[in-house]
Amino acid sequence: MDRVLPSGTDGMHTERPNPEGVPTTARPCFDRRTLLTAALATGVGAGAAGATAFTRSPQRTPAGPPPAPGSVPFHGARQSGVTHAQLPSVRLLALDLPDGAGRDALHALLASIGAVLASAADGSLADARLDGTPPVTSLVALGPGPATRLRLNVPPSLAELPAFSGDRLEPARSGGDLLVQLAAEQPWTTAVLTEHLVTAAARCGAAVRWSQAGFLPPVPEGRTPRNLFGFKDGTANPAPDDPSLWGLPGPHADGTVLVYRRIRMDTAAFAALPTERQELAVGRRADTGAPLTGNAEHDTPDVYAKHPDGSYVLPADAHVRLSNPRLDGGARMLRRSWSYDDGPADRGLLFCAFLRDPALFTRVQTRLAEHDALTPFLTHTASVLAWVLPGAPEGRQLGADL
Ligand code: HEM
Repeated sequence: MDRVLPSGTDGMHTERPNPEGVPTTARPCFDRRTLLTAALATGVGAGAAGATAFTRSPQRTPAGPPPAPGSVPFHGARQSGVTHAQLPSVRLLALDLPDGAGRDALHALLASIGAVLASAADGSLADARLDGTPPVTSLVALGPGPATRLRLNVPPSLAELPAFSGDRLEPARSGGDLLVQLAAEQPWTTAVLTEHLVTAAARCGAAVRWSQAGFLPPVPEGRTPRNLFGFKDGTANPAPDDPSLWGLPGPHADGTVLVYRRIRMDTAAFAALPTERQELAVGRRADTGAPLTGNAEHDTPDVYAKHPDGSYVLPADAHVRLSNPRLDGGARMLRRSWSYDDGPADRGLLFCAFLRDPALFTRVQTRLAEHDALTPFLTHTASVLAWVLPGAPEGRQLGADL
């Protein structure tokens, strides 16, 4: 596993020396007294005061230089990690709050992480290693653990996923209080930014639970990338602004749920199948990505189409039949997965899906785990379900409505 160790995890107030001379960006976390003082001064609750205080980040002065060309704004109603086109290098970073941490600690951590992500996005982060590296997209999502512990304002559907048949989940790769997803053109960028995030988190007393890197193959813009089985993956996706993916009107309207599954793929065994068998297992053509019932990649799979002998063109155990939205009353998820390679015996897919209601994932995965022709080639080794916070418009902090 790709582990990143925090440089200091000994409390909310600790400023650590920086022996490597690596430029650090996140300001130290504010402690509870500072938050309360700010709250008294402004006459609002401590969490909100923390949010107010942190908007004055030293990395982002309003009169600073304009954003770097090609940058993707961090600030906005929704987080760029869902709304922007998928970038080829990803890093997932799961953080745990310190034991007994309250809402103030969470808000301080979110503010600290948000400051790093905002300056990374507009190119103002002072680190020579990042010169000329935009764009960067990101998202921050909250696990059900702190949402329950701190009685936060999240959708009621946010609860841990059930166990699925065949799961081999490793706790050290799963879960976490906060999940940060960073994506960029190059792994260099995500590696350097991860260091800044880890430093910022450590100053807030948060510990790295796990970290995972992933990648996409090079594809021209607008084309669908392939996964390590060699099939186009992400064809039948709703648009990122499809209203059905997002929360109901109200404080959750600009948030969504992320389901992450780390799925090991037996690529050698799958590659040993004749192409025709592979295509029957997926339900699509290996070369074009077209459904077996169509001619072009974006033709809609026809689950009713039959051969003259009466058998279905899309077999009963084909992946695209079992995951077809018709079986779920038309409900859809936005799949944004990356491949990973952690050695020859551990390669696969970092399956990431965004959806309003996690029950959709549960229904689809229950069918896949039991009947999918791909299942014998797959092992789910990690799982996260998390609430992707609404974005932070200018002047507001991530998680301000929690
Ligand atoms: C390593 C594991 C997986 C592989 C290799 C894989 C591969 C694919 C491929 C090749 C397609 C067809 C192209 C496309 O529309 O993107 C597809 C479609 C799809 N997959 Fe997966 N998938 C995996 C896991 C999952 C999981 C865990 C779920 C959800 C529980 C899922 C849900 C879907 C859905 C909803 C579709 C679109 C169906 C449609 O609307 O036609 N997949 N997948």
